[in-house]
Amino acid sequence: MPEQHRRSVLNVFSETSEAPPCAVVLFGATGDLAAHKIAPALYNLALESYLDPHTIIIGVGRRDWTDQTLHDYVAKGVREHSRARPEDSTLNEFLSRWQYARVRLDAPDEFAALKDRLEQIDTRRGTCGSRLFYLAVAPRFFAPVVEQLAATGLNRPACERAFTRLVVEKPFGRDLPTARALNATIHKAFDESQVFRIDHYLGKETVRNILVFRFANSIFEPILNRQYVDNVQITTAETVGMEERRGAYYETAGALRDMVQNHMLQLLALTSMEAPRSMDGESIRDEKVKVLRSIPPLTPDQVANSTVRGQYLSSDDAPAYRREKNVASDSRTETYAAVKLYVENRRWSGVPFYLRTGKRLRRKTSQIVVEFKREPTNFFTEAGCDMGGVNHLHLRIQPDEGIAISFDAKVPGERMLLRPVQMDFAYGSSFSSATPEAYEHLLLDAFHGESSLFVRSDEVEASWRVLDSIRRGWDDTHSPPLVEYAPGTWGPDEADGLFADPYKKWHPL
Ligand code: BG6
Repeated sequence: MPEQHRRSVLNVFSETSEAPPCAVVLFGATGDLAAHKIAPALYNLALESYLDPHTIIIGVGRRDWTDQTLHDYVAKGVREHSRARPEDSTLNEFLSRWQYARVRLDAPDEFAALKDRLEQIDTRRGTCGSRLFYLAVAPRFFAPVVEQLAATGLNRPACERAFTRLVVEKPFGRDLPTARALNATIHKAFDESQVFRIDHYLGKETVRNILVFRFANSIFEPILNRQYVDNVQITTAETVGMEERRGAYYETAGALRDMVQNHMLQLLALTSMEAPRSMDGESIRDEKVKVLRSIPPLTPDQVANSTVRGQYLSSDDAPAYRREKNVASDSRTETYAAVKLYVENRRWSGVPFYLRTGKRLRRKTSQIVVEFKREPTNFFTEAGCDMGGVNHLHLRIQPDEGIAISFDAKVPGERMLLRPVQMDFAYGSSFSSATPEAYEHLLLDAFHGESSLFVRSDEVEASWRVLDSIRRGWDDTHSPPLVEYAPGTWGPDEADGLFADPYKKWHPL
């Protein structure tokens, strides 16, 4: 039965009530994501009393593990990755919520046994038949797990008051046809209102704050349009490479699929969307999807001239991408991508959105920089002084989270010299409370059935449409060629060539 999403995106974490009790069924409990992100996030929610005491977690895997093996694995994950340092007593209490279930995809009787076990849990722990199925498995297993859940009848809520939800990790498909096929498989078993597609960037405090910044204040929104904005630059840079363990996955993805299709297009959508009718999940996603659909797919010529792809070389202390574990020695996978896109609607027509992302770059940082048009009058040049007049808005997603506006000020003294200065809001100085991790927000919202921070099926498809046009250009025409870049830089020099005007460039970060 479709659920109603009435709560606002901005309220869930401030609600004092615990999430309703349920059984979390975590497929992929023996994997990296469970240990690095999901278990630590659940631990912090439990610690801060956001998790109902009756909520239980069934860790599902193919391996022959026991409850004890799972407890050791979860404990290690929480100790190493939790935001709050765990005390033994709270950790033990948390571990007592976890049980292990061996369920193999080709063993329908093991799905049936899982169902029996869940029914027993409903009676014993009072979880009322509510279930949150979490797919933290490799993407090729998403559809088969969903099909088995449906075949066992686990897709349907156990009673009228209960909920059944499906949380799906990324990547959601590897192009438009596969994303559509996966949506179709899921929709045979679950209503869209039951489906929560993860993009962990949407759970970041600073990303959620983009909506507050734009729509809770009256002074910024009037200037965020083609009349005032010259260009928008979105960067997600990382210093890490493949970290020994990510090569096999990354070979199937590359920077475009790994970061641009999801996180970066979501940042673009939140920065450029119109005000939603209200702050409920459907209204926000309606506006995001309109923006994503307003990005015209690129023609092969545009791909050749408006995109850059690169691969990192070795440094003194780290191998080149092609020498990473599980990476082909002649791999053509891009570890850096930069693209110029346009949002062709009344508000943004003609304003370029530059997106760039890469591994092994100079600094770990995610930022959105809005560059405003130059002040046309040039008063101060005429007075024989330095020329200013370009203002920037910086939304610092991470680290050093905050928002800054740069503008020109007069340098004190007799001469009329101008210098850019900044008005800066830093989360760290304005708020003292610790910031919850993205996964904490997302899990809590999924428990509450709040969908705003999750990606809807039409959003995923709209972003693949754009991505596919770039991939097609790269694969069919091999243009632009894959170029190499030195680690510790901001990527290949070719990325500066995306700016048509030689005086324009990537804003220094
Ligand atoms: C993930 C990508 O979605 O995001 C990774 O698969 C990337 O390759 C990560 O490292 C970056 O996330 P964050 O939160 O560290 O910016």
